[in-house]
Order: sequence, then structure tokens, then C-alpha cells
Amino acid sequence: MELLQNVHSYLAYVVLLVLILAVVNAIAGWAGNKMFTLQKDFRLSLFALILSHLQLILGLILYFVSTSGFKALQIVGMGNLNAQARLLAVEHPLINIIAIVLITIGWSRHKKFMEGKKKFKSITLFYGLGLLLILSRIPWGAWLN
Ligand code: HEM
Repeated sequence: MELLQNVHSYLAYVVLLVLILAVVNAIAGWAGNKMFTLQKDFRLSLFALILSHLQLILGLILYFVSTSGFKALQIVGMGNLNAQARLLAVEHPLINIIAIVLITIGWSRHKKFMEGKKKFKSITLFYGLGLLLILSRIPWGAWLN
């Protein structure tokens, strides 16, 4: 469990970095009316999708083995969680699942379009919103100390 926690914690740097790169790249492509290339744009967005799904799977397992996850809910009950505990047991998991659903929708939608501009727009909006949601519910204190 310690190991899983560490992997989820370190992978978070990579996931956030690659998500930020994918969003910045999509904004630049959209604004600059660029061509959507297989080598760079497709790969970068796919890489961000895969990493977020990997983090989702690790998070889901962690949720059921960690004492900060579901067990906290079982032991003290929803109403007795303080803000910090509620962040880990409720808000972080729930909001991040929604964020990854959005990222997945952005990925699927981009494939339906032929035009580069529309592809970049789909990635910008859905990955961008997903990234903001993830950033809004990171347990910053626990992570960066
Ligand atoms: C891209 C999405 C995600 C990112 C970037 C992320 C990132 C993080 C970070 C930075 C921490 C703090 C680690 C530390 O204390 O060092 C954490 C903790 C945690 N995450 Fe996530 N997470 C994501 C998705 C999820 C999901 C989807 C779930 C569950 C369904 C989840 C469950 C948890 C749990 C239970 C903890 C607390 C672990 C513990 O302290 O024992 N995470 N996450």
C-alpha cells in the first residue's frame, strides 16, 4: 500500500506535466490554425489520456486499500470527516473521476473531426476543463510537504 501510494504520488507529477503540455499544445494549435499531426499532436494527446487512465486505476485501488479513502468513510462516517479527510475520501476521487471522463470525451470527440482546428478545440476544452478540475482537488499539503 505504501508502494502504491508512492507511485500514485510520483506519477501525479508526470500526469500533470503531460496534461499541461497537451493543453498548451492544443491551445497553440487551435489559435495558430495549425495542422493536427500524427507525430506530435495525436501522440501527445494519447499519452496524456493513457497516463490519466493509469492514474485513475491506481487511484481506484488506493481508494479501497488506503485508510484515507473508503475506510475513512466507513470508520468515522461522512458527516464526521474534517475538510482534509473529506478532500481525500470524497472530493479528490469524485472530481478526478469526472475530470478523466471529460478528458476521455475530448479524446473521442477529436477523432470525429477532420479539421485540425476542431480537433485542437476539442482537446483544449475537454482536457483543459479536466486539468482545472484535477488541480482544484489535489491534496497540495499532503503532496508537497
Ligand atoms: C489524474 C488524476 C489524479 C491525480 C493527478 C492524483 C494525484 C494525487 C496526489 C498528488 C495525491 C497525494 C499523494 C501524497 O500524499 O503524496 C493523491 C492521493 C490520493 N488519491 Fe489521487 N490523483 C488522481 C486521481 C485519483 C482517483 C481517480 C482516485 C480514486 C478514485 C484517487 C485516490 C486517491 C487517494 C485515496 C489518495 C490518498 C492516498 C493516501 O493518502 O493514502 N486519485 N492523489
